[in-house]
Amino acid sequence: MLRLLVLHGPNLNLLGTREPSVYGQMSLPDINKSIARRAGELGVAVQSKQSNLEGELVTWIQNALGHFDGLIINPAAYTHTSIAIRDAIAAVALPTVEVHLSNIHQREEFRHHSFIAAVAVGQIAGFGPTGYLLALEALTAHLEASGPPSRSRADGKKNRTASRR
Ligand code: DQA
Repeated sequence: MLRLLVLHGPNLNLLGTREPSVYGQMSLPDINKSIARRAGELGVAVQSKQSNLEGELVTWIQNALGHFDGLIINPAAYTHTSIAIRDAIAAVALPTVEVHLSNIHQREEFRHHSFIAAVAVGQIAGFGPTGYLLALEALTAHLEASGPPSRSRADGKKNRTASRR
């Protein structure tokens, strides 16, 4: 079974009350429930985590190698600032989908640039919480098309995708 890690960045713990006209009414626990439901339908395993700390997100990405086959990340404001998160994704080389609730390209100029996009398989922005479900589907299809999952690498072997880069 494919194992996907979903990471939510800073301030996304406030979803539901945070600027609802931009980010919608759905809380993060409810978004995570809908992700888990869709993952069940797709037959993949997911784990979702949120952090307000850049270094914690970097550590979770590093630790994903060997335990997950792919990554879905909404880096929130770190999208536009974090070379560290970009480098972590490049280092583990896990297929990654970048998600944004809002359409960052329609918003302030400083949100138009993503440090993450260049190391992601793709980016989904502007569809609200549905974006996470689209990302699940897209990443599952991408991983299935690229062959059987790398299986547990708790044995310390290199991830199949990582060794390709
Ligand atoms: C966001 C967009 C970012 O620009 C912003 O800093 C966020 C959320 C989104 O999901 O639309 O915190 O990633």
